[in-house]
Amino acid sequence: MNHIATLRFAQSIPFHGFTFPGYQSTLWAADVQGPVQAIGAWVDGQPVGLALSLWCPDEDLARMVSLFVAPAFRRQGVANSLLAATESGWLARGVKRLEVGYLQKSDTADTVSRMLARQAWPQAQPERLICACDRSMLDSKWFAREPVVPDGCDIISWSQVSVRERAALMAEQLLDPWIPTSLNPFKYEANAEFNSVALREAGKIVGWVITERYDAQTLVYSCSYMHPERQKRGWIVALYIEAVRRHATRSDLPHARWAVPYHFAPMVKFVQRWMASYATELQDYLVAIKNLEQPITI
Ligand SMILES: CC(C)(COP(=O)(O)OP(=O)(O)OC[C@H]1O[C@@H](n2cnc3c(N)ncnc32)[C@H](O)[C@@H]1OP(=O)(O)O)[C@@H](O)C(=O)NCCC(=O)NCCS
Repeated sequence: MNHIATLRFAQSIPFHGFTFPGYQSTLWAADVQGPVQAIGAWVDGQPVGLALSLWCPDEDLARMVSLFVAPAFRRQGVANSLLAATESGWLARGVKRLEVGYLQKSDTADTVSRMLARQAWPQAQPERLICACDRSMLDSKWFAREPVVPDGCDIISWSQVSVRERAALMAEQLLDPWIPTSLNPFKYEANAEFNSVALREAGKIVGWVITERYDAQTLVYSCSYMHPERQKRGWIVALYIEAVRRHATRSDLPHARWAVPYHFAPMVKFVQRWMASYATELQDYLVAIKNLEQPITI
């Protein structure tokens, strides 16, 4: 017999293997109210699927961060039920928009897209470019270029950013913000890897590239940004070159991953022009947002 329910705290333990390692601790905060919603599915008393979604106040929506059904129990409607329960659960919490995203070239992309269409979701659109490479990127032309580090600027390790520089950056962000929320370095620095770098200009931090560990052989370039008044000068490329040079010293980490949101158009262009032919993976991440209040007409 099939059963679907909203999980609370420890009830989620048998479901931890159904989400990404990075989200397993989030399951401890799952509840029938609040910002973490985890819906579990059982067949004959056995846990078989999990939909985990989070409230994102900055964007005024809830985001599905993982939807997984154990392979032996697929094609029985379990994911459809998990999605429907996630939608009604958020509506009951007063949340009116839900976002679902998936990789364009994944094995299950067609299944997910049909499932969304069946449940009256709008067509998913490309939201960011997902890229990966191995050491062959070290042969690329952009990497061979001598980096443009202008007079009065230094490239330093992110760990060398001083307390005063950090405070100045935080104060600017309060008084005269220039860093997009999704690229705020302070969100990523807790796990910053050895090759994370910053650009210091006259005692001020104006740009950064922060990397994190993705798996045993891979660094993910999670967050990079240059002050809007310092863009279009090749300074961010100088930071990339330095970060990649440091990365290249580690033969045990031959892989890299990164994602470029389509609304950062110059960066998308840079990746397509200079990096695409050296990439081992280049695909769209598709995103759909459903207005949960809209009446369903069948
Ligand atoms: C994508 C995923 C969640 C789908 O789970 P699922 O439980 O198999 O999904 P459903 O059973 O609800 O629907 C899948 C298909 O089974 C079909 N189906 C549903 N009930 C069925 C039944 N009783 N008999 C036969 N087929 C059935 C559906 O029509 C659908 O078919 P379609 O893909 O041809 O349109 C699952 O494949 C998975 O966990 N994949 C790995 C993780 C992933 O990709 N997650 C998505 C990221 S958003």
